[in-house]
Amino acid sequence: FRPVADSCPLTPTTTHRRLTKVSVIGAGNVGMAIAQTILTQNLADEIALLDANRDKLRGETLDLQHAAAFLPRVRIVSATDAAITKNSDLVVITAGARQVSGETRLDLLHRNVALYRKIVPAVAENSPEALLLVVSNPVDVLTYVAWRLSGFPASRVIGSGTNLDSSRFRFLIADHLQVNAQDIQAYMVGEHGDSSVAICSSISVGGMPALKSLRDNHQSFDEAALEGIRLAVVGSAYEVIGLKGYTSWAIGYSVASLATSLLRDQRRVHPVSVLAVGFHGISDGHEVFLSLPACLGRDGILGVAEMDLTEAEAAQLRRSAKTLWENCQLLGL
Ligand code: 2OP
Repeated sequence: FRPVADSCPLTPTTTHRRLTKVSVIGAGNVGMAIAQTILTQNLADEIALLDANRDKLRGETLDLQHAAAFLPRVRIVSATDAAITKNSDLVVITAGARQVSGETRLDLLHRNVALYRKIVPAVAENSPEALLLVVSNPVDVLTYVAWRLSGFPASRVIGSGTNLDSSRFRFLIADHLQVNAQDIQAYMVGEHGDSSVAICSSISVGGMPALKSLRDNHQSFDEAALEGIRLAVVGSAYEVIGLKGYTSWAIGYSVASLATSLLRDQRRVHPVSVLAVGFHGISDGHEVFLSLPACLGRDGILGVAEMDLTEAEAAQLRRSAKTLWENCQLLGL
């Protein structure tokens, strides 16, 4: 190619727009599902991958780069050194040991905290203005750990939390009613995991408060059906892990939806893990991260919705908060 008269040559590129950089820490199944979903959704100009396993990282990087002819133009870089993440807008942390069959998310805690002590300060130093999105499990405790170790304001430290549980919840309700999951508004909050809380009192379908009309019109949609759905949501990850060894696609889409809301300032409301002190009776001094519906934009958490909970739902949430807080205390951070 030759430049037209009076213009600059094709290379080097003159950039007038600030480029968007997303770093993904951890090139395992979850990290790569997130990277590829972000890539296909045209959210970033540059994706940086960081992992300790040099060969795996190089293999994954080449494999993504080889799709260049079918995708938006994105620079994909990778390294085993955190300097590769420099000047990121968003850093997604997936690194960590993953749950194996029979293990709870909290069992992973101590293994992953040690890793976070190495990763988070280095990432924060390279991108002091970034948004941190924590995905590794147990996500709520590790979001607290990332907040403490980064020194970032709580508005810029977000856990992927129950955004995925809520999608599973919406899928199962939609399946039960044979409608599109995107028309179901339903939130799971609290811990991403065994004590997550289904907010049944505010489920709506196509904007209509659902519980009463569902009960009136669908004989089968009763307390037992809802509890069955909640238990199915809680068991979802265990079921998938038992069958294929790990979960990846749904968390990939869940995190890409959060990245879109953040980087494109969409101000959509997502249930994500946030510093929950002061909400629903979670008392001062109990600095705990758990999922509540939050408005997400370019500055991170723009606000947290004050949900109208039943007393039973609020009590469940406080129980979740207590379990998480006790786990955070053990870390001595
Ligand atoms: C999930 O829920 C394992 O936390 C992961 O898919």
